[in-house]
Amino acid sequence: MQIFIDTANLEHIKKAAETGLVDGVTTNPTLIAKEGKDFEEVINEIIKIVPGPVSAEVISLNAEGMIKEAEELSKIAPNVVIKIPMTMEGMRAVKHLSKKGIKTNVTLVFSENQALLAAKAGATYISVFMGRLDDRGGASEKVISNIRNILDTYNFSSKIIAASIRHPRHVFEAAIAGAHVATIPYGVFTNLFDHPLTSEGIDKFLKDWEGFQKKLK
Ligand code: G3P
Repeated sequence: MQIFIDTANLEHIKKAAETGLVDGVTTNPTLIAKEGKDFEEVINEIIKIVPGPVSAEVISLNAEGMIKEAEELSKIAPNVVIKIPMTMEGMRAVKHLSKKGIKTNVTLVFSENQALLAAKAGATYISVFMGRLDDRGGASEKVISNIRNILDTYNFSSKIIAASIRHPRHVFEAAIAGAHVATIPYGVFTNLFDHPLTSEGIDKFLKDWEGFQKKLK
């Protein structure tokens, strides 16, 4: 499973990328607004840090507006992926963009049927929002595994991104369910490295080593 970082914070992206474990970045209007900087400027900075796919979201709600924005954004760099909401207008835009070879990430997907439509439209990525689905009593890991089944059965090339990840459990649930990518907020990403038994083990090894060194003197 690939790991994307779900943030527009350049410091966090740099730190996460330094691990060598990050394959891409996803942003959305909320995440860009949090940084308080110009949208294109932020995307330009991100693509300098991460060579993999970087998702940038359109704001228009009609297909023509989305296509216009997508064409502009895709000029920034070949690794920019256009994030488009799952609506009828959105899928018209995705169909058009996929024919032109522009990569898309269909966002705000919560059901198997929405994913099927996105795949048929030619979406490069389909973002399934785990946290928001679970907040409403949904079973996000089941939805992801059903979508994976549909994609594989009909040989669709779209890849599932597990998004709206709130905690480390979502990450392994996404992996088990067959998501191709998990896009993870920086805080959750750093938590993935930790386990109390790991820290306890390191402390014990160091203590034992120090004791042994003292004995040698
Ligand atoms: O980027 C989309 C998604 O990951 C947003 O997550 O936490 O706002 O539901 P959240």
